[in-house]
Amino acid sequence: MTILHLRRARTSLVLDARGPGLPRVVHWGGDVGDLDEDGLRQLADATVPPVVPSSFDEPTVLSLLPEASAGWSGRPGLAGHRDGRDWSTAFRLDGVDVRDGGPGAGVLTVRASDPAAGLTVTIEITLDPYGLLTVRHRLRNDGDGAYELRELTPVLPVPAVATELLDLTGRWCRERSPQRHPWQHGAWVREGRRGRTGHDATLLLVAGTTGFGFGHGEVWAVHTAWSGDHVTFAERRPTGESTLGGGELLAAGEIRLDPGESYETPLLYAVWSDAGLDGLSDVLHSHLRARPGHPRSPRPVTLNVWEAVYFDHDLDRLRSLADRAAEIGVERFVLDDGWFRGRRDDTAGLGDWYVDEGVWPDGLQPLIDHVTGRGLQFGLWVEPEMVNPDSDLFRAHPDWLLAVPGRLPPAWRHQQVLDLGRPEAYAYVLERLDTLLSDHPGIRYLKWDQNRDLTEAGHQGNPGVHGQTLAVYRLLDELRGRHPGVEIESCSSGGARVDLAILARTDRVWASDCNDALERLSIQRWTGLLLPPELIGTHIGPERSHTTKRVHDLGFRAVTALFGHHGIEWDIASISTAEQTELAAWVALHKRLRPLLHAGRVVRVDHPDPAVWAHGVVGHDNTRAVYAVARLSTSVAQVPGAVRLPGLDPGRRYRVRQVSGVPAPATIDLSAPTWLAAGVTLSGAALARVGVQLPALHPEQSLVLEVDAVD
Ligand code: DGJ
Repeated sequence: MTILHLRRARTSLVLDARGPGLPRVVHWGGDVGDLDEDGLRQLADATVPPVVPSSFDEPTVLSLLPEASAGWSGRPGLAGHRDGRDWSTAFRLDGVDVRDGGPGAGVLTVRASDPAAGLTVTIEITLDPYGLLTVRHRLRNDGDGAYELRELTPVLPVPAVATELLDLTGRWCRERSPQRHPWQHGAWVREGRRGRTGHDATLLLVAGTTGFGFGHGEVWAVHTAWSGDHVTFAERRPTGESTLGGGELLAAGEIRLDPGESYETPLLYAVWSDAGLDGLSDVLHSHLRARPGHPRSPRPVTLNVWEAVYFDHDLDRLRSLADRAAEIGVERFVLDDGWFRGRRDDTAGLGDWYVDEGVWPDGLQPLIDHVTGRGLQFGLWVEPEMVNPDSDLFRAHPDWLLAVPGRLPPAWRHQQVLDLGRPEAYAYVLERLDTLLSDHPGIRYLKWDQNRDLTEAGHQGNPGVHGQTLAVYRLLDELRGRHPGVEIESCSSGGARVDLAILARTDRVWASDCNDALERLSIQRWTGLLLPPELIGTHIGPERSHTTKRVHDLGFRAVTALFGHHGIEWDIASISTAEQTELAAWVALHKRLRPLLHAGRVVRVDHPDPAVWAHGVVGHDNTRAVYAVARLSTSVAQVPGAVRLPGLDPGRRYRVRQVSGVPAPATIDLSAPTWLAAGVTLSGAALARVGVQLPALHPEQSLVLEVDAVD
């Protein structure tokens, strides 16, 4: 056995696999260069910790699967037992190999076993060409009896220079709020026990050097790609180790491996950068964009009719919405909740996936024909995992629920969760969706919603979240296999299902039910840490937000919605002609900028004034960029200071202009900065290091700058 080095982009992973135990992670972080065998051995030797008083007589070794037998007294990598036995392991290395893993990626596989405990583990690590690491463990029960698994989580070490932690939390309409604190001894453990990813999901857990920001600092981050119960943690120990890890949270009795059976962890995504949070996003976005299934067609500008009509489905009204949408430049029309049997409000109908004959006497086809006749794609809302007790499905199959025998989970939005682990329930939902799509080939898009936590989610007496999560993945995969041209959006009471496992089988996420542009700025900024703009649904809502009652100009709403998969969620049939004209101009601007917005590098500005938020997208060839600057509130400083425009080629010269064709934001200036009228030409270095003075915007106003290389 040997010391292994995976190197891609600017990232290195060095593993000491000399045995006899599981490999020690010597280094995960910046590239350490092209080391030969001796160089790797010296690096491994130089990083072995000393033996100190009142501790083990040999240095402790932190492996990818930390074990007590190797002296680890932090969070265990594996927890489980066989009737109270085999609760501790001492895996011995059976082999390691490194191979090519598809375009540009390196894959390292570690095989180890503990014959006494009757367990075998396989660890697969991939480093992609952009520097993104994924780790997955597979555990097999090779013993005689059943093995109950409680926890299996990959961990990665982070050096002591990382002193601060950042992760995200949130709630309905306030998803992905950052929280940050010094990294002290102990474990910072983010657990999601909601049976879905959750509004409060960590998304990324970032450890970084003191004061790291969007554009600076050395940072390490992990994401647990799982849409059920999960844990993501950072642990720092007085013994000197600091780790990041994540995996599935298993309920007691949830995973019982019979002899020969295996369990596989979710993928743990791990990213390093020395260019701050933007550097992390760059790696993650590049990885996602390189996927063969990544949506490549121009993302259609969408009208979702939810906030326009709610459950009030009326064919004529929907037709006029489609007419107005076509005039404005919309490309996809999505009919939201309320079209199926008995669904006049949110208390009934879920599960009865038949078009409601009372509301739609001629079915959906007349609307589909009208929409497609106007040149728009048609999309439809579904919530396949759920059932209302007031539904024919529930009346026929009251036992098809995820529940504990003898009681129902507390109701949530008047609904319960179908047990998709039951083959009959799964087959029913698959048949309904398949038939719906086959009968209406005009449906090219499903908004796949999921509107409640899984509570006491029992499957035939056992815990059911694990099985349900896999069944949902299977259902999506199977449906996509049968209808490959249909795109799917992951929605979950807004943004409660945003993770890379659901995104492996869907085409975008609905970031939040909050369309208030001010709240959305933050929700989108932090969702964008993980996802590139084209995967995040961003809609222009009505003037007065339905969820916060705040009032915003169209300009502010439009600029916020510009930087994503753009759309409208507003009763555009009742807007004025002036609003319609302005809305059409914003849609046209989005379409013009879309090739850049949906392919370029995302940058966010670390502005000293917290009321000034700037972000942008820079083309990969560095010839073009677009930035938005938003004033969130008033500031004590009347002039908040120049805004730096990062990310451009320092050596090239760029022309910077305010975008034309759309109304300018409201400012308090008596006269705008002189350069604004005609634009200014500056080097990329000057733009990044000095920046430009912008008009003093009123609060809740935004401005868009377009930047083009002139040499
Ligand atoms: C929750 C979603 O987030 C909304 O956009 C909407 O589709 C409703 N569900 C419909 O019930």
